[in-house]
Amino acid sequence: MVRHLLDVDDLTPAELETVLDRAADIKAAQAAGDGPEPFDNQTLGMIFEKPSTRTRVSFETGMTQLGGHAIFLGPDDIHLGSGEPVKDTARALSRYVDVVMARLFDHDDAEELAEYATVPFVNGLTDDAHPCQTLADLLTIREHFGGFEEVRVAWVGDGNNVAQSFVLGAAMVGLDLTVATPEGYEIDDEVLARADAVGEAPATTHDPEAAVEDADVVYTDVFVSMGQEDRREEKLAEFEGFQVTTDLIGDRKLMHCLPAHRGEEVTDESIESDNAIVWDQAENRLHAQKGLLVWLSEQE
Ligand code: CP
Ligand code: NVA
Repeated sequence: MVRHLLDVDDLTPAELETVLDRAADIKAAQAAGDGPEPFDNQTLGMIFEKPSTRTRVSFETGMTQLGGHAIFLGPDDIHLGSGEPVKDTARALSRYVDVVMARLFDHDDAEELAEYATVPFVNGLTDDAHPCQTLADLLTIREHFGGFEEVRVAWVGDGNNVAQSFVLGAAMVGLDLTVATPEGYEIDDEVLARADAVGEAPATTHDPEAAVEDADVVYTDVFVSMGQEDRREEKLAEFEGFQVTTDLIGDRKLMHCLPAHRGEEVTDESIESDNAIVWDQAENRLHAQKGLLVWLSEQE
């Protein structure tokens, strides 16, 4: 059966663990010069409505390493941006490529792509979710802490796409998560209910200091996400007090999905400190997605 990844909870907890294990195995094999190349003659179509450094390069590189090929389809490259319906794009692309990945604004468009695609669809970020980031985050936490049990993470910042997928992933693997957001920027109730359905929903607070108190990891993301540029001043004012400084981090690890806006959600000193494991997170996008692509290909 063709499987899609619109959000982390499209996987069962057991499948999530399998994808992470597969990612770790492929990472080790690649490092030993013996990475698998199962995708001879296979193509990944990559639709981007928004910019990207990590997602674009890690998917394209991952596909190359797996013996396949990736096509970059930016807003000016295909008709999606100029009126061809999402469902027609999904059906046409499915006749050429073996997997479709898309970075979109509207999560409903991702759902429609998945509904009409006859090949696996992977969400490379929407306004609501960023499941590939969560796969890399979980791989990174598992590498640094040897597992998930007893690991306490504090999310400090916006209850945005990255936070929402992380909430689901954390619930699925049993991470102890506390989410601190300003009022009005909480995780959606619908996502909290889904987290409850797959594990334990996180504790929530509006107090960053309280959130990090018992934490091993502080995780943050930009205050102004892509597409929210016109709300910049308003959001920066509302997020006052939520900047992740070296004082807030203390001896905890710092995670950030990147790109970081130094001076806004995080200080330069924090990102540059030895506590930051952000480059491991970025690298693990490659390995996690390779694990995911191989796993998806095995479900068909
Ligand atoms: N973290 C992440 O998705 O980065 P990009 O926007 O560079 O892809
Ligand atoms: N929340 C950020 C994540 C970027 C990877 C955004 O949507 O812009």
